[in-house]
Amino acid sequence: MSDLDTLKSQLLGDVAAAADEAAIEAVRVAALGKKGSVSELLKTLGAMSADERQTRGAAINALKTEVTDAITARKADLKEAAITARLKAETVDVSLPVRSSPAERGRIHPISQIVDEITAIFGDMGFSIAEGPDVETDYYNFTALNFPEGHPAREMHDTFFFQPDEKGERKVLRTHTSPVQVRTMEAEKPPIRIIIPGKTYRQDSDATHSPMFHQVEGLVIDRKANVANMRWVLEEFCKSFFEVPSVTMRFRPSFFPFTEPSFEVDIQCDRSGGTVKFGEGSDWMEILGCGMVHPNVLRSGGLDPDEYQGFAWGMGLDRIAMLKYGMPDLRDFFNADVRWMTHYGFRPLDMPTLFGGLSA
Ligand code: DAH
Repeated sequence: MSDLDTLKSQLLGDVAAAADEAAIEAVRVAALGKKGSVSELLKTLGAMSADERQTRGAAINALKTEVTDAITARKADLKEAAITARLKAETVDVSLPVRSSPAERGRIHPISQIVDEITAIFGDMGFSIAEGPDVETDYYNFTALNFPEGHPAREMHDTFFFQPDEKGERKVLRTHTSPVQVRTMEAEKPPIRIIIPGKTYRQDSDATHSPMFHQVEGLVIDRKANVANMRWVLEEFCKSFFEVPSVTMRFRPSFFPFTEPSFEVDIQCDRSGGTVKFGEGSDWMEILGCGMVHPNVLRSGGLDPDEYQGFAWGMGLDRIAMLKYGMPDLRDFFNADVRWMTHYGFRPLDMPTLFGGLSA
């Protein structure tokens, strides 16, 4: 085999083996580029005798033509194959159902749902929403709420304290939403009718306690607000919230530094089946603490207790969410598990309203 035949079969072999457009381009450069094997042969033509040019020269040119044609053909094939592959990979199956939009797939967390439900209920009764900081001063979390310095009730709250600042004052993660009572009294004139949903923090963790949890606080201040009004408001709330026509509530005397008198409130329920039913049965379940706002708290808020009076309550949200919607373990609330959210979450466009149904 002549050297030209050897080169030809090698180059045609390379052309055939080139698997994509980049590979065939490399073969082209190696053969026909400036320093390519065929180009180098063409350069020898000038030094040839006329006879030699006739035979070998013609053979080199024939080689060049054949290799060029082979490369052009292979390039076209590979280009075609690349397009076919891309079309195949990018096909759209128009018979597939349209994917739902994020607004339909997303879910509202049960806590947000409960807050929306409670807001709808109290909004209907003329309450507005108030908020305050999660990082609270010792003053608003305790002192302004009539917890004297060194009072054991401070210890009962299992408070998360921050390092003391230059003045020796320690901020806290608020242990309840009650500090917003005083913040609101300072900022607004009575009559005051607010609810305060928010995050609260205590050093506590098990299946029914989480170090971060949620409360909703309520506060009513005017000249005549009394225990009977409070009782009515709380009963109306429980009926709406648990979506039952009537509830029986039990107000037990209790103690909170910021209310006098204070009560713990139980709601009648039936635990005989696997689930808890409200408004019937012979069991009681504690759901909130409440009372008439203590004169010292009114004073902290800049109000004269001889002129104004009011009532307040505080309720844990996580536990009533568990009860209403049947989640067994509180810790799952905060695990950000999409499967749990898909199961227990609520559709974002189904806003709870009293007329449309809260949880329907
Ligand atoms: N702050 C109380 C707690 O976290 C709950 C509470 C009880 C709030 C009585 C109130 C109230 O406003 O009047 O345990």
